[in-house]
Amino acid sequence: MNNKLILALDTDSLKKAEEIINEVKDLIKFYKIGSQLFTACGPSIVKLVQKNGGKVFLDLKFNDIPNTVASAIKEAAVLGADMLTVHTTGGREMMIRAVEAAKTAGEKSGRAPLIVGVTLLTSLDVNYLREMGINYSSEEFVLRLAGLAKECGLDGVVSSSRECLEIRKKCGPDFKIVTPGIRLAGDSLNDQKRTDTPSKAIKNGASYLVVGRPILEAKDKLAVIRKILNEIEESDV
Ligand code: C5P
Repeated sequence: MNNKLILALDTDSLKKAEEIINEVKDLIKFYKIGSQLFTACGPSIVKLVQKNGGKVFLDLKFNDIPNTVASAIKEAAVLGADMLTVHTTGGREMMIRAVEAAKTAGEKSGRAPLIVGVTLLTSLDVNYLREMGINYSSEEFVLRLAGLAKECGLDGVVSSSRECLEIRKKCGPDFKIVTPGIRLAGDSLNDQKRTDTPSKAIKNGASYLVVGRPILEAKDKLAVIRKILNEIEESDV
């Protein structure tokens, strides 16, 4: 089964999540649990995914003092999350402590979660940077944060497909790039601004594609998933 496709389980109850998982689990192995679903269901949603043989990307975007983030990561590792997010703007010490916490948890359980950093949210742009007193372009800022994330030992970053090429160049072949904003040709963009097709994102160097609404809102979810998986396979050379 192709592990590069992550389904964003963007829904609000355990029951709805279970219906989705039951429908797609023959084709999808990796699920993203975000702050809405986790706030609604708590750790039982992680258990549900695991019970169905799935891997968990716990996307809670931690950003706090280093000790609090390290403690949260320890708990997420105890739950058995396979991948987690922290904000790179939380700073060097926070990221280093996050990586240490994941490593320590991995030494105990034999399986450390991957830690990936959020750089600049796709909802933010250069106006936000100016307001914060930062004189970089969005692209420069994302690249700078990706470099810092790598220096601190993070496994990768979240980035739109458009920034993948530069991040891949700067951070090397083993650095994970998790890419949302994926749309098949002809799909509705919803509220996503910087979108790309699965094929383009993989060619740009994405390691994982995160897809939500194009699958969740489709009448035939499996048909959409098959199309995405085909594009990934054909482009992944
Ligand atoms: O429905 P759609 O495919 O747009 O969902 C994308 C998923 O990726 C959502 O869960 C969204 O929160 C997440 N995401 C994003 N842009 C980011 C980071 C995460 O769209 N920069």
